[in-house]
Amino acid sequence: MAEENAGRTSGAVLVVGGGIAGIQSSLDLAESGFKVYLVEDSPAIGGTMAQLDKTFPTNDCAMCVISPKLVGCGRHLNIDLMTNTELVGIKGEAGNFTVTVKKRPRFVDAEKCTGCGACVQHCPVTKVIYPIELEEIELSRADLETVQGILDNHRDRAGKLMPVLQDVDRHYGYLPREVVRFVSRELKVRISDIYSIATFYNSFSLEPRGRHKISVCMGTTCYVKGAEKLMQRICEELETEPGGTTEDLRFTVEAARCIGCCSLAPAIMVNDRVYGRVKLNDIAGILEDYE
Ligand code: FES
Repeated sequence: MAEENAGRTSGAVLVVGGGIAGIQSSLDLAESGFKVYLVEDSPAIGGTMAQLDKTFPTNDCAMCVISPKLVGCGRHLNIDLMTNTELVGIKGEAGNFTVTVKKRPRFVDAEKCTGCGACVQHCPVTKVIYPIELEEIELSRADLETVQGILDNHRDRAGKLMPVLQDVDRHYGYLPREVVRFVSRELKVRISDIYSIATFYNSFSLEPRGRHKISVCMGTTCYVKGAEKLMQRICEELETEPGGTTEDLRFTVEAARCIGCCSLAPAIMVNDRVYGRVKLNDIAGILEDYE
C-alpha cells in the first residue's frame, strides 16, 4: 500500500500535532493516498513519547516503538513535515478548508543540515550556566585525578559528554553526585542536562551498583517458562529485590526485556555471560561463580 501510494495523492489533509497520535494518523493517511501536512509547534516531531523510557503496559522501549515511525514520516513522499510551525487561522467548510500557518525561523539551512552537531563547536553563543566553584565540590584528590584523567582522554572529541559519562559510570559503577557536578563545571554543561541523559539511558545509574549485574529476562518466552520464579529465587538468595543491589555491592538484580536467546528460555545474564534453560536449583551454583 505504501509503495503503491507513495507520491500519488488524492486530496490533502492537515494533521495538527506531531506526537505519536499525529505521526500514526499522518502515516495512515499518507499510505491511503492523501497528501498530509503535519504541523508541529516544537522544532521536532515525537512529542512526549520520544522522551519516555518505557511504555505501559508492555514495558517496551518507547524509542524503539516510535523511531521507525519518525523515520517513516520524514521519508514518506506524501508527508510534508512542518515543524516549528503554528496554526494561526482556519476558514472554509468540511471538505474545503484553507489554513494559515506561521513558520518560525530555524536559523539553519534545513536542506543542508545533517544533524552532525559540528556547528555547536563553533557557535559563539555559549550556554549560560551557573558556575560551580571548585571549593564547593567535595571530591577527594584521587577522585579529582581520576575524573580529570577521563576528561583529558576526551578533550578533543566533539560531543564528549556522553563518552565522559560512560567512562565515569564504568569506573565508579554509577554516576556519583559530586563527580557529576565536577563534570558539569568542567564541560560547562548544565547539571540538569546531565541528569536528563543519566535518567533517560538505562545503562547509567545514579545509585551505587553491584560489581556483577544479573539481568533476568522477563521477555514473553522466558516469562511463560518461569522467569518470574527465577527472579523471586535470585532475590531471596541475595536478600534484595528486583532492581536492588546487595549490601556488599556484589550484585545488582534487574529485570530485562528479551535478551535474544529465546530458544534457551528461561535465560538470565550475569554481566556478559548468558545462562540458558535455568532451573531454580541452578541459581545458588551460578551465584557462587561470582563470590
Ligand atoms: S524472551 Fe527471554 S531471551 Fe527472548
